Amino acid sequence: MASVTLERLNKTFGSTHIIKDVDLKVGDGEFVVFVGPSGCGKSTLLRLIAGLESISDGELRIADDVVNDLPPRERGVGMVFQSYALYPHMTVYENMAFGLKLAKMANETVDERVMATARILQLEELLHRKPKELSGGQRQRVAMGRAMAREPRILLFDEPLSNLDASLRVQMRNEIARLHHRLGSTMIYVTHDQVEAMTLADKIVVLRDGRIEQVGSPQTLYQQPATRFVAGFIGSPTMNFMPAELLGGNEEGCRVQAPGLGELSLPQDASGQGPGAELSLGVRPEHLRLAEAEGDNRFEIVNVEYLGNEVYVYLEPREGDTLLIHRSEAPSDWQVGQDVALRVDVEHTHLFDASDRALAIATQRHAA
Ligand SMILES: Nc1ncnc2c1ncn2[C@@H]1O[C@H](COP(=O)(O)OP(=O)(O)OP(=O)(O)O)[C@@H](O)[C@H]1O
Ligand SMILES: [Mg+2]
Repeated sequence: MASVTLERLNKTFGSTHIIKDVDLKVGDGEFVVFVGPSGCGKSTLLRLIAGLESISDGELRIADDVVNDLPPRERGVGMVFQSYALYPHMTVYENMAFGLKLAKMANETVDERVMATARILQLEELLHRKPKELSGGQRQRVAMGRAMAREPRILLFDEPLSNLDASLRVQMRNEIARLHHRLGSTMIYVTHDQVEAMTLADKIVVLRDGRIEQVGSPQTLYQQPATRFVAGFIGSPTMNFMPAELLGGNEEGCRVQAPGLGELSLPQDASGQGPGAELSLGVRPEHLRLAEAEGDNRFEIVNVEYLGNEVYVYLEPREGDTLLIHRSEAPSDWQVGQDVALRVDVEHTHLFDASDRALAIATQRHAA
C-alpha cells in the first residue's frame, strides 16, 4: 500500500493541453474519487498514474519514489477499466493468473494469489468458467480480480460499473466499499455516478477542463462547494440557482433581492462586494419549501414527479424562465398548474459572486 502524490502534473497531447498543473495527495489507504464532465481529463489523469501515458511535466510519486519514468508494471498499480475486456478463451482462473505468469511468478505463488483473490471476490465457484458463461457483475468481479491478484499497492478504477444495470451497480458498489474496508488499499476511482462518488469516497476530486476545481470530503463538497460549478455538479437533483442583487451587507451577513422571493437576509459575508452586485443564489431542492402563493412570490408548478420515497416538484417563476426543483420526502397535494410561494431555508443558502466563487458564511452568524 502506498500514497500517491501529484505535483504540478501536466499532460499535453501535441499542442492540446489536457491536464493542467494538478496538485493532489492521495493518502495511504484512502479512497479517492475523480468526478467531472466528460472530457475533463479523468481517464487521462488515471492513465498518467498507471503509467499508460507519459507525463509531460511535473512529478508523480508513489510512496516516496518518483515514478515518472517507471514502466507501468513496476509501479505496483492495478487498473480496472470500464470495458473489462477479459480474455474470452480463458477461464476465470486463467484470466486472473495470466498477468502473474507473464511476470514469471512461480506456479505455486500464482495459485495462492488467484485462490486468495477468488475467495475475497467470491469467485471460487466460477473459476473454471469462461467469461461468456458469467453475468455482467461476475465478469466485473473477474476484471477486479485480475487487477487485484497482482497485489498492487494502488488500485485504479475507470468507471468500472458503467456497463452494469442499476441493481447490479448497487450491489457492486457495495462490494467495492467492503473490499476497500477489508483490504485497506489505496484506491482511485473515476465515475459519472453521483451516488458512487458520494458513498465510496473518503475524498472527492472535482475536475474541470484539466484542472482541479475542488477537493474535499463528500460532505464538504455538498455543504460548502467553493464554486458555482461544484455546487451544480455535486448533488442530484442539482442545486437551484437564481439571480440575486446585493442590497447591502457586512462581515455578519447580507441582504439580497431575488426575483419572486423578495428581500432575503442571508448568512454570507458579502463585505467584499459592492451594493448592487449581481450575485447568484444557490439553494438545494430540499431547502426550498412551498406555501400558498402570495403577492409577487408566485411560482407555477410545471411538473410533479412522485418517486415513492420522495417527490420532486418543478417550478417556474411567473416572470422569467428559470426552472427550479423542490424536493420533499412527504407525498403532497400540489398540482401541476397551481401557483405557489417559495420559501428558502436561509441558513442553507449559497451565494456566488460574479466570478462564481462562493461567499463565505459569516463566522459570527455561523457560530450563533
Ligand atoms: N491520446 C489522445 N490524444 C489526443 N487527445 C486525447 C487523447 N486522449 C484523450 N484526449 C483528450 O483529452 C481530453 C480528456 O480526455 P479523458 O479521456 O481524460 O476525459 P474523461 O474526463 O475521462 O471523459 P469521459 O468522462 O468522457 O470518460 C479529451 O478532450 C480527449 O479528447
Ligand atoms: Mg474517461
